[in-house]
Amino acid sequence: MPLVQVTGATVRFQSDTALDAVDFRMFAGEVHSLMGENGAGKSTLIKALTGALPLDAGVISIAGKGVQFATPRDAQRAGISTVYQ
Ligand SMILES: Nc1ncnc2c1ncn2[C@@H]1O[C@H](COP(=O)(O)OP(=O)(O)O)[C@@H](O)[C@H]1O
Ligand SMILES: [Mg+2]
Repeated sequence: MPLVQVTGATVRFQSDTALDAVDFRMFAGEVHSLMGENGAGKSTLIKALTGALPLDAGVISIAGKGVQFATPRDAQRAGISTVYQ
């Protein structure tokens, strides 16, 4: 079972769709690199995964359980945090 699973993640800023039904999964012990040109939506995906931005659609699951993070602190309690550059 994936440790982190994102299904159909969608985030819109007015008419701009920053994330369009993004799927992503991660198993324990894996290291992933997220790559894309400027504006591709990398930061938006990380912000949504860490409770800094709400999803307009989609589901985040941790160890098979659906979660909704209202704040980064909520995400930290579930073991997810961001180290910003
Ligand atoms: N707070 C915001 N308000 C409006 N548009 C935003 C905001 N944050 C990001 N965007 C837009 O969402 C898209 C994805 O941006 P972003 O996730 O920052 O890309 P990346 O990190 O891959 O460079 C871009 O079109 C960007 O302009
Ligand atoms: Mg960025």
